[in-house]
Amino acid sequence: MKELDLGGLRISPPLVLAPMVGLSHSALRTLIAELGGIGLLSTEMLGARKLPSGNPMHDPFLITSGLEHPLSYQMLVADPVDVPAAMAALHRLGADAVDLNLGCPAPTIRRTGAGSKLAEDQRQVRKVVAAARQATRLPLSAKIRLGNSLDEERLRDFCLMLEGEGLDYLTVHARLHKEPFSRKPRWDWVGKVKGWLTIPVLANGGIFTVTDAARCLEVSGADGLMIGRAAPTRPWLFAEISHALYGGPPAPFIHRPTLYRRFVELLTERFPPRRQLGRLKEFSHYFSKNYPFGHHLAMAIQNSHSVAEAGQMAEKFFARHDDQST
Ligand SMILES: Cc1cc2nc3c(=O)[nH]c(=O)nc-3n(C[C@H](O)[C@H](O)[C@H](O)COP(=O)(O)O)c2cc1C
Repeated sequence: MKELDLGGLRISPPLVLAPMVGLSHSALRTLIAELGGIGLLSTEMLGARKLPSGNPMHDPFLITSGLEHPLSYQMLVADPVDVPAAMAALHRLGADAVDLNLGCPAPTIRRTGAGSKLAEDQRQVRKVVAAARQATRLPLSAKIRLGNSLDEERLRDFCLMLEGEGLDYLTVHARLHKEPFSRKPRWDWVGKVKGWLTIPVLANGGIFTVTDAARCLEVSGADGLMIGRAAPTRPWLFAEISHALYGGPPAPFIHRPTLYRRFVELLTERFPPRRQLGRLKEFSHYFSKNYPFGHHLAMAIQNSHSVAEAGQMAEKFFARHDDQST
């Protein structure tokens, strides 16, 4: 099976779970690891200032289990002075890799000077990346969007600067900062980035099927793929892509109700009760897209007041919607 070297971390296949707030947590990561086909898992974005005081036993963003490796931790940071302590915390947590968030366009994040706001200030980005490189020998990456506008020269300078500061690989979400997820991703622009750099480049955005994955690789020439929303929708997609494109073992047989129950079980095992329902609602929003009448499932879970009630609602839905396989 194809391997990819990310600054000394060899992943196989070159398929990566995207960092996603409320979704890329221990339960989903474990589910994906159990289904196979994943090369590298990710946390959701973690604020650099909070990391040093985070407790992996209780903090829902830091809870993890032995199966979730290799695991990349995504750091959200605006100021290089916060980097050394945050990086030391990630070392203590046993991170296998560290990713810097340089693309999040959410207004609450931009107001802190992080994410896509940081990416607008190339000098400050340089300082953040230099501080991160100085503070760790772990594989170091950044996740970017294409910028505020389609400006090839600026993007090229930006990416070359990132590589020059010592990043081991780069993930490109193929959209501009203000473009919604509904917009068609610009995979050809990932291809431009790939052409400028010598470090591995991962393509992200709009991969929901094996066909999308093959097309994205063809258009972008990327070294690997990062997958976001399709992960909670079809957690077995990594195994399917791995088998179809990288010669991995066949994807396991999928019985969707069983998979959903397993997710609920992992949630209840890993998280304290008050942390479970919100995460179940987030997951169900995506998982329900597998069914023609999935909005009924999503609504029923959304209106539930407990995980037990949500579980009953899900069972009612599954009983009405015969499930053969994927
Ligand atoms: C609910 C949600 C939360 C997200 N949180 C993060 C995050 O914490 N860090 C980040 O870099 N990107 C985040 N993203 C963006 C994804 O990582 C990814 O770039 C985006 O969803 C496009 O990939 P996809 O089309 O495969 O979903 C988030 C996306 C969604 C839908």
